[in-house]
Amino acid sequence: MSKNKQNSGRMPSSKGMDMASVYSVQECECKAKQIVFSKDNRLIIEEFIHIRDMKGKFAEHDVPMPNKLMMFGPPGTGKTLTAFYLAGRLGLPLIVVRLDSIINAHLGETGSNVRKIFEYAKSAPCILFVDEFDALARTRDTNDEVKEMARVVNTLLQCIDEFQGDSILMAATNLENELDHAIWRRFDTKLVYEAPDESSRLEYIDLIIGSFHKEDGIQERATRMLAGCSYADIEQILLKAKRKAIVDDLVLSQQLIESSIQEYRPVHLRIEDQALGGSSA
Ligand SMILES: Nc1ncnc2c1ncn2[C@@H]1O[C@H](COP(=O)(O)OP(=O)(O)OP(=O)(O)O)[C@@H](O)[C@H]1O
Ligand SMILES: [Mg+2]
Repeated sequence: MSKNKQNSGRMPSSKGMDMASVYSVQECECKAKQIVFSKDNRLIIEEFIHIRDMKGKFAEHDVPMPNKLMMFGPPGTGKTLTAFYLAGRLGLPLIVVRLDSIINAHLGETGSNVRKIFEYAKSAPCILFVDEFDALARTRDTNDEVKEMARVVNTLLQCIDEFQGDSILMAATNLENELDHAIWRRFDTKLVYEAPDESSRLEYIDLIIGSFHKEDGIQERATRMLAGCSYADIEQILLKAKRKAIVDDLVLSQQLIESSIQEYRPVHLRIEDQALGGSSA
């Protein structure tokens, strides 16, 4: 059980929906059991967790603790998973914002929704996670509805500035360049995500294959075959191959992985096909 007090008051709602989904510490731990970090991100995360344990010392030196993390990178590389992981490690509930509920055709309403969910998250220690952050924080001068959107960004800036205390704000985006600069610099911790390199692929493939019956050396071969794939692609392809192995009572083999790659069509292969004039839909 979490030792933290519960968020006070009711979860705010809009358009008949809660503005966020809440995950308990146990749910977060369970979801993020298998996570692979790049060396840099592992160091940043461990330091962040270490600092959170040193509250007294930071107060003594009058240095604010970090509490705002921005994650940037392509789809399927572990940004959302990191939010669950950190919540599990820090023993905090995770509040995942529902943008479909927050964003309203009336942008004035969007600003007021942003304020409500930030207030809610401040009312007790938690991690507030905003995925697709760019949808709220588009740079002020490239948006069509410039003035109205600028007001939402201004509200967001204020909310971020006032977000002190024991809660943590995490945001993720695929579109680093679309974020307003003023927003970007308010985040004290930044994590950059990429498709896994060779050693991260091997680590992840090993985790996914686990003790499943397999050909010798399949992990190393799969690591080469799955170059360029995101973690999410690798997971889907290997699960497909495992299913085929179970159905036909076979061991996990290079051939099964090859046919799973063909069926799954990871994005980078579709792009290569198109560049070669291929006909993949
Ligand atoms: N670094 C990772 N370590 C382990 N598994 C991962 C990692 N990245 C992605 N996965 C797997 O892929 C799934 C999707 O990952 P996740 O939702 O974290 O991606 P994302 O970076 O948030 O993508 P998007 O930009 O589309 O939101 C995860 O649930 C997990 O199964
Ligand atoms: Mg995500």
